[in-house]
Amino acid sequence: MHLHKYEKMWMLIGGGALLIFLIMLGVGAFYQGTKPPSCLTTIDPQNVEAHDSFKKENLGMQQLDDNRYVVNVIASAFNYDFGTDEEGNVVRTIRIPVGSEVMFQGTSTDVVHGFELAGTNANMMLEPGYINTVETTFKKPGTYTFVCNEYCGTGHHYMTATVEVYDE
Ligand code: CUA
Repeated sequence: MHLHKYEKMWMLIGGGALLIFLIMLGVGAFYQGTKPPSCLTTIDPQNVEAHDSFKKENLGMQQLDDNRYVVNVIASAFNYDFGTDEEGNVVRTIRIPVGSEVMFQGTSTDVVHGFELAGTNANMMLEPGYINTVETTFKKPGTYTFVCNEYCGTGHHYMTATVEVYDE
């Protein structure tokens, strides 16, 4: 079979681009730990408090053992609800010691919201009716910002929160 010179070039470019994308996908999935949200657990979006993890007193950070934590969050337009601290103040910043393994677990009470922790592999959708989780390990101290990356209404761009990873 005879292939024209330019035809060969284009096939190489096409095949090469496909290969590059597959490698990027592989590195993202197996090396950086990126994965789609689980979406397997359902919850009544009108009554999220009925689920233990989303009761008022269980929102925010819970320590499991030495360096493992769970952070429960309820998203709604245009806020991430991490509960309140001991003094009753609304939690806007989650403080976590460096090296911790953290599972973020969240749901939404109204529309679909995003939950992306910029600079980490944590990136999921928070959907009404579903509980989603994502795990990440904080290897470097610093301040990380949560952003909502699903357009959810007029206050979408104000929907943020912060994680502060500190050295012990
Ligand atoms: Cu919540 Cu955009």
